[in-house]
Amino acid sequence: MKALLRLFGSTLGRKYLMAGSGAVLVLFVIGHLVGNLQFFLPPEAINRYGHFLQSNLELLWPVRLILLGLVTLHIFTAFQLWAENRAARPVAYASPAPAYGSTLASRTMLVSGLVVAAFIVFHLLHYTLKVEAVNGSAVPFHQLKEPGTGHPDVYAMMVAGFSVWYVALFYLIGVGLLCWHLSHGIGAMLQSLGLRNPTYTPLVTKAAKVIAVFLFVGYAGLPVSVLLLGHGKAYLAEVVAHNAKAVAAATDGKEAGK
Ligand code: HEM
Repeated sequence: MKALLRLFGSTLGRKYLMAGSGAVLVLFVIGHLVGNLQFFLPPEAINRYGHFLQSNLELLWPVRLILLGLVTLHIFTAFQLWAENRAARPVAYASPAPAYGSTLASRTMLVSGLVVAAFIVFHLLHYTLKVEAVNGSAVPFHQLKEPGTGHPDVYAMMVAGFSVWYVALFYLIGVGLLCWHLSHGIGAMLQSLGLRNPTYTPLVTKAAKVIAVFLFVGYAGLPVSVLLLGHGKAYLAEVVAHNAKAVAAATDGKEAGK
């Protein structure tokens, strides 16, 4: 605890905290993409994965709490460092030209980070909490059950979610800004952690951009495949029809039992 307070107490410490929390969050973003890419396998694959997560709550909750703590720490230290920078230069440069070596991504880190945070809140309401008011879809997500097992159908839910064009567009903007944020953030993080030197810096800067592009292509592929190629739509129609039949059969059973 003392060590953590000491880290908070210095600018260098705050930089370490921001870089360390960012590093773990990047690992989560990579892992989450690998999990999501199962969307391009038969529906059973991602449904099995979703069911595994939901039936291991003793694993899921600690991970959720750690992620929440890391996001809070990352945002908090970002604001502290931003406020320090402002205090160090209360009068802005007279020239409107950006500082030498800065890029548009580096100058917009605070804004892109805040929009990504808003996107994550929307994303949790959409797919984790399945709040009907935000999904814009005619299909209530909590009613989508996998025909074979009766478990929640994550695959059908993703197809239904991305069939709404403005939701798919919002995802594209959200992941686009996340990757824009990472295109600068990964390099800055390595610098804060002391892992950059004059020989490797150009390579690290390029590698950060390549990773960001890969992440964008991977994440964007999901909404684009549904919206433009109709990926999974036939399966969604089957699941909706199957679920409707099951509801009708249950209602008939109740009526007969009266
Ligand atoms: C196309 C992009 C994405 C898709 C299709 C997607 C899909 C999903 C789905 C289906 C869930 C719910 C899993 C379940 O409860 O069964 C989920 C949860 C989550 N996603 Fe994403 N995701 C995307 C992008 C992102 C990004 C960019 C982030 C973070 C930067 C993110 C962070 C999370 C988090 C924190 C959870 C909550 C996990 C939990 O505790 O239940 N997602 N995502």
